[in-house]
Formats: sequence, C-alpha cells, structure tokens
Amino acid sequence: MIEEEHLVQTSSQKNNAKASATDQFSTSGFILAAIGSAVGLGNMWKFPYITGQYGGAAFFLLFFCCLLFVGLPILLAEMAIGRSGRGNAVSSFYALSQNKIWGKLGFLTVLTPFLILSFYAIVAGWTLHYATISLTGGLFNVPDYTEAFVGFASGYMPLFWQVVTMALTCFVVVKGISGGIEKFNKVLIPGLGIILIVLMIRSLTLPGAAQGVDFFLNPDFSKLGAESALVALGHAFFSLSLGMGAMLTYGAYVRPEQSLGKATLAIGAGDLLYAFIAGLIIFPTAFSYGIEPSQGAGLVFMALPAAFAAMPFGNLFGFLFFILLAIAALTSMVSLLEVPVAYAMNRWNVDRKKATILVTIAVFLLGVPSALAMGPLADFTIFGKNFFDFMDFITANIMLPLGGLIVTLFTGYAWKRVGEETGISGFWYNVWMFLLRYVAPIMVVLIFAHSLGLIQF
Ligand code: PHE
Repeated sequence: MIEEEHLVQTSSQKNNAKASATDQFSTSGFILAAIGSAVGLGNMWKFPYITGQYGGAAFFLLFFCCLLFVGLPILLAEMAIGRSGRGNAVSSFYALSQNKIWGKLGFLTVLTPFLILSFYAIVAGWTLHYATISLTGGLFNVPDYTEAFVGFASGYMPLFWQVVTMALTCFVVVKGISGGIEKFNKVLIPGLGIILIVLMIRSLTLPGAAQGVDFFLNPDFSKLGAESALVALGHAFFSLSLGMGAMLTYGAYVRPEQSLGKATLAIGAGDLLYAFIAGLIIFPTAFSYGIEPSQGAGLVFMALPAAFAAMPFGNLFGFLFFILLAIAALTSMVSLLEVPVAYAMNRWNVDRKKATILVTIAVFLLGVPSALAMGPLADFTIFGKNFFDFMDFITANIMLPLGGLIVTLFTGYAWKRVGEETGISGFWYNVWMFLLRYVAPIMVVLIFAHSLGLIQF
C-alpha cells in the first residue's frame, strides 16, 4: 500500500515539478500523442474480431454510441484532472480534492497500466515477428497457420520480441514529452494513416470485397443484445485508453490555453476513424479469401496470414499490415509506460532517465511469465487461467472499470471547481455533468457486474 508522505511534495520535488512543467506538448503534438495512445491493438486487432462476433455494422453503431455518451465524457474528465492537478495519477487526485483517500484510489490507475503493459508488450512483439517473417518469406508456404502461430507463441521467441518492444518504448519515454513522446507520435501517427489508406485500397479492390463491406456497413439489429452492448462499452473504454491514468498523465503536459473540449472531439474522431478503416481492411480481405470473420482472437494472426500468402505481392502487404499493428501498439505502449514513470519520478524524486529504466525493467520482469505462458509456463495457472490470460482478465474486467468509476465519481461529485478549471459552462457543462454523474457510473457498474458474472443476459 502506498504511504501518505508521498502525497505531500517536498520543496525539491516542487522544483523538480516546475522544471518538468516546461516539458509540455505542443497543441497538435498533444492531439497526436493522445490519438497514438488511443489507437492501438484495440483498434486493429480486437475491434475487428469483436465486430465480427457480434454482428458487424449494428455492433459498430453501438460502439459509436458508447464512445459518444460514456467514453468522451470520461476522456474529458481524465484530461481535465491531469491538467488542473498538474501531476501524476496519484498527486493530481490529491491536489484537487485535498483528500488522501482520492490519492490512494488514484494509485490503482497507476498500477493498471503497469500490469497491462507487461502483456501488451508480448502481443506487440508477435506483430513485429509477423512483420519480419512477411519480409523474409517465412509467412508463405505454411501448411497450417494456426499450428504455425501456436508453435511460435509457445516457444522462447516471444521473449526476444518482448525485449525489443520494451527497449523501443523505454527509448522514447527516456527522451521526455516534447523530445520523445511528441516527436515519436508526430511521425508515426500520420505514417499509420498512410499505411491504413494503402491497405484499405488494396483490400477494397480484392475480388469479392463487396461482401465484406456489406457485412461491416449493413446493420442487422437482430444480432444485438445486452451482451453486445456491454462488450461495446468495455471496448469504448479500452480503446480510448480510459480508466488507467494514461490520458490523465498526458493531460498534465497540456498547455493551459489548449481547449480540452476540442481535443476530446479530435481524439474520439481519430480513434473511431482508425477503427473504421481497420474494419474496411480486415473484413473485405477476410471475405475475399473465404475466412470467417467471427472466429475470434486468432483472426489476425491465424487467419489473415493465409490471405496475404495467397495475394499478389502478399509479402509487401503482409509486412505493411503487421508493421501497422506494431506501430499502433508502440504508440500506445509509450503512453502506458509514461503513467508509472511520471509517478516514480515524483514519488521517489528521481530523474526521468532513472525512473524510465527502472520501471521498464520491472514491467519486463513481470511480463516474462506472460511471454512464456503459452509454452514453457503453460502449467502455471492462477484461478485456472495461464498467467497471460489472468493478467488480461484482472486488468480488463476488474481494474479498468474500477479506474473508470473513480474518474467519473471524482469529477462528478468530489471535485468542486471542475467548471472553472476546464472553462466549460452552460448547456455543455450540464450535459457533461449529467453523463458523468448518472449515465457513465451506471454503465460502468453494469459492465463490471457482467464481466464478473454477477449479472447475466
Ligand atoms: N487504447 C489502446 C488500444 O486500443 C490500449 C491502451 C489502453 C493504451 C490504455 C494505453 C492505455 O489498444
């Protein structure tokens, strides 16, 4: 448990904070970095397969509503807490409420990204492996792609790729906000957009692509139910990087004059657009090659390689596709690492370099059992799940909704000067508060109860 003394800043910490306060995002740099955090494996890997499982276009509409009515109000709240509190996820909650309990609750939102990063790095590593074998030809002439994936994931190679992805992330975060995170995203996010458009044109011109487009864009509402609504809501959360201090921590480096309302809309639109284009790549490709889009998590690693192998210039398109996933993952990993790093710098009064390296090593070590969970450590289970699945389960189903709840309740009920601090007033303030006080907490409690199996539909 955290001790109280760290909530009170010493004078040297204040000086430190002042020094680092000059390291801020530019206006566009912040938007790109936040889009970089939001657009990740969630958009490119998870969104297509859950859309496939829950009925295509109708699910997409539902996701859109969840993003608009629950995701965006919480996103705005997180950024506002960070900018006004001017600190990490613990000190900002404390600074704005002067109440130690909120600081302690904020600690949860520092722990969550630490745990998520430990296994997110493994999946990011898989994408780099697949990008490499697309180039070297290892992706082709494979008799069984499922077997090939399982063979790879159960060996020691994921460990190597984990070192690579964690080292890259560490390298960017060490360089700080404007010199590292902002520069990295300013190059990669537009780059990601270009690769997405190239791949979208390729997939839309494949024979039989229209069927995939139809599946993705023609809603069939009969497939919707309460369960798909909850999945859509949970995904809106994950996709906007909410409930784990990421947007809060980035918010602390936003200039006072930047409009948070506009930033919220830009980030929401960016996240949605990238997910939409990912759908326009994956479904037409899947339909064109007779791949079932509802086959779940294996869609990207076990099914799509067969399509690339059969396509003219498949090694080039396969490479572009997997490098796209890798870039999306890395820009998200950077924001995940920044949360515990910002906390460590303030908590132990260490400089950025030391904090980043130490946190990276700790996250790496925690990730090792996840990297080996499908192979050498397959027998090591917690509550019947291997280590990787266990980490995924507790973070996505328990810690994220709790983190979201903390943010909504704090902004809706505990933080009194939220209107003044954000400059939002009148009609939009009332809408925002209504969503934060009533709609969002009820929805979050519902996802929580459902994912724990307390309620069933
Ligand atoms: N939003 C990211 C995605 O869609 C995941 C993420 C969550 C990244 C939280 C950072 C913080 O993949």
